[in-house]
Order: sequence, then structure tokens, then C-alpha cells
Amino acid sequence: MSLIKTVAQQARRTNVVASKASSSSAHPLGGYNENKAQLRRETTAQYYRDHDIHNAAKKDSVRLKAAALLFTGRIPSDIDLIRSAQYLQSELPVRLAHRIKGFRSLPFIVVTNPHILKVMEQYIRSFKVISSFNDGRMVKKQDQVEDFTHLLEILLDDHGSVIDDLTQGFSSCHDHVLDIFDGDEGKAHELVQSFLDKTLTSRLGIRLLAQHHLLLKDQIGKNSRYFIPRHDRIGIVESRWKPAKDIEAIARKIRESWMFHCDNPPRVKLNGHTEAEFPYIPIGVDYILQEVFKNAFRAVIEAHSNSARQMPPIDVTIAVNREDFTIRIADRGKGMKSDVINKIWRYHFTTARGRSNYGGVGDLLSMANSNEKELAGYGIGLPISKAYAEYLGGNLEIKSMSGIGTDVYLTLKHIDPHKGHSFRI
Ligand code: ADP
Ligand code: COI
Repeated sequence: MSLIKTVAQQARRTNVVASKASSSSAHPLGGYNENKAQLRRETTAQYYRDHDIHNAAKKDSVRLKAAALLFTGRIPSDIDLIRSAQYLQSELPVRLAHRIKGFRSLPFIVVTNPHILKVMEQYIRSFKVISSFNDGRMVKKQDQVEDFTHLLEILLDDHGSVIDDLTQGFSSCHDHVLDIFDGDEGKAHELVQSFLDKTLTSRLGIRLLAQHHLLLKDQIGKNSRYFIPRHDRIGIVESRWKPAKDIEAIARKIRESWMFHCDNPPRVKLNGHTEAEFPYIPIGVDYILQEVFKNAFRAVIEAHSNSARQMPPIDVTIAVNREDFTIRIADRGKGMKSDVINKIWRYHFTTARGRSNYGGVGDLLSMANSNEKELAGYGIGLPISKAYAEYLGGNLEIKSMSGIGTDVYLTLKHIDPHKGHSFRI
């Protein structure tokens, strides 16, 4: 969980940086916040006539092997940081342009929804700001890299509510999407699913790369003469990640939040390879675990709240193999009937509507943004988690026995190249 803490600290610092940037007009980023309103007007006007975005969207994105992150910064130096900034300076506009193209291919009635339009405008703004940084010339000097890094911090923070906005947007225009397909639920679902899967996994990749750069910068420090190498962390990669430790920390946090609603929430019991450690990027897996645990706690508590007996524990088994690792989360929360199980992978499907804030602990990917609304009860936890797991070269599967309980299997590939093919970010 140490990485999450670092990310939260970063979020706090981001606010400082953001306010510094807006209060000082002499600062190279000083104009960014003041110009936001104007940029917003311009971006809408440029909707149909933007050659830069059009051209960038024609380029292929250069996805990095996860293992490359492990080796480029083994002993991080200023050169690594300059290279990392240069890669992001050329790669992010391409990825953002692909996302903007995705928004533009949505039906008009969907893209004009205020929440969805807001996100599209954010992407256009970020595209403009990144591609025009340093007048479009690659950063070379250390102070340019510093400014570029500050800009990334501000943008990461700015995009903190993207998931929330898209969720609200698609939820509120559900009927319009249905109308487009003459009431065909399956086709309406397909449109939303393919857009959100693509947009959210691409966003995961963008945010991982940007956070990797920020953390590398942190590890190198302002003055590289005083650099003290850290052997347990290279950017977003933890060199000795211990799944059992993150599982315990996430389960504890969700259990604690349930203490307000229930006297004795279920315990979580770990077995299998509980001592295993290996290099990994915990941000994505932590998000998935959080969503799966929220569901398991809720199921057990709802199924057993009228019983005087102690709630049955949630059993977690860890299995680490050469190529991948699996985490199984098994609850005795009475499982799901077939009409529920058939819909769990759909965006916006939930049986928790109206019961707000079920053990929500926020969106880890939003850098612990304290204003982030809690997401439980929106019916997006499982579909996003599945899309993330597949993006990270793995899968998420659920086997449920109605009346008994549910087993969730999360399998993910190692990033270590000695253990077969990995995935790209
Ligand atoms: P949410 O938790 O916001 O409802 P999810 O996508 O995480 O959204 O889950 C969708 C639905 O799947 C839940 O509302 C619930 O009905 C069902 N579900 C998920 N996990 C479990 C579980 N472990 N036991 C029983 N039902 C579950
Ligand atoms: C996002 O979080 O949606 C982003 O694309 C962030 C990026 C502009 C740095």
C-alpha cells in the first residue's frame, strides 16, 4: 500500500503546484489555469476543424513493455527523466487524439450530454496544452523537464473525475442510446461497453505512464548529486511487491468503513502463497481488489445481517506461478441468481441502487482525490475491473453458486520478462 500513500501525497502536492501555477503569471505554466475558460470556448469551436488532432489520431501509439519500466530507471538519472519526458511529450498527444476521435464517433445525442462533453473538452484541452508545450519542441534541459512534470501533475489532477463524469453521463443518456437502437438493449449495451472499455483502459495506460514519470522525478530528487537509490521502487513499479500486504490493507480499509453500518463485519482470511514477493505495478490491481472486496463484504453482510452467528469469513487464496499469479476471493454471501449473473459485466448494472456509499474508499486511480464521489452503487466496479485486468494481460472471472456464495478469480501476468510474455502499457 506504500505506493498508494505516495500517490496520495503527490495529489496533495499537486494542489500546491496547481495553485502556484495559477498565482504566478511569471511561471511558465502560469497562464494555464487562467486560460482554461478561453481554452474551453476555443475547444468547442474547434470541434470540427482541428487538423492537429486529426493528424495525431492517424499515428499509432507506442505502447511500452511493462518490463521496460523496470529497466530504464534501474538507477534513475537525470537522463532517464529527460527521456521519459520526451517520450510522454510525443506519446501523450497521440493517445489523447485517439480518445478525442472516440468521443467524436459517439452519436450526437450522447456526446452533447453535459458530463460527456465536459470530458471530451478536457481531452481536447490537454491535447492542446501538451502538444504546444515548449512551442512543440522536445524538452532538453532540466528546467524544461521540471515545467513539463508540473504540467503533468496539474493535468492528472484535472482529469481526476473522468470516471465519475462518464458514469453520470452515460447513465443519464441511457434512454437516448436505447432510442438510437429502437429499444434493443443488447446493441445499446454494446455501444456503451466498447466506448467505455477502450476509453477507460487507455486512460489507465496514460495515467500509469504519467505517474511513473512523476514518481521517477521524486526518486531522483531536485539535485541528482544527492540521489539515494531506492531498491524497492522504480517509478510505479514496486520491485518487491507483496500481494498479501496490499490485500490485507485494502480489506482492512473496507472492513473499517463497514463498521459504521454493522457490528462485526466479516474477517478476511489469507492462504496460499502469502509470503510471495515479485516486481509489479500495484496501482491497477489495487483498484480491482478494492472493487471485488466491496462486493464480497456487501454480499456477506446483506446475507447474514439477520443471523446472530458470526459472519462467515471471506477467504482469499494467492497462487503465484512463473508466468502469472491468481488471487481468488471467495465469499459466502449467498451468491447470485442467473438473472443477476448474466448482467454483472454490463456498465451501470447494480442491485445496490438507492443504498449509497457501500463501503466505498474512492478511486485509487484518481490519485486519492478527496472530492471524488464514492463509486459504489453505480454498477461500474466489475466491468471496469474486467477491462483493467484484460489490459494488464490477465482476466477476471466469477463463479457463483446461488444460495451459497461467490468466487472471484483475478489472474494477472508478471511484468518480469524471464517469466514469459508480459503486457504493454
Ligand atoms: P456495484 O457494486 O456498484 O453494484 P459492480 O459492478 O461491482 O457494481 O457489481 C454489480 C452487481 O453484481 C452488484 O450490484 C451485485 O448485485 C452483483 N455482485 C457482484 N459481486 C457479488 C458478490 N460477491 N456476491 C453477490 N452479488 C455480487
Ligand atoms: C486522464 O486521466 O484521463 C488523462 O488522460 C490524464 C492525462 C491528460 C495526463
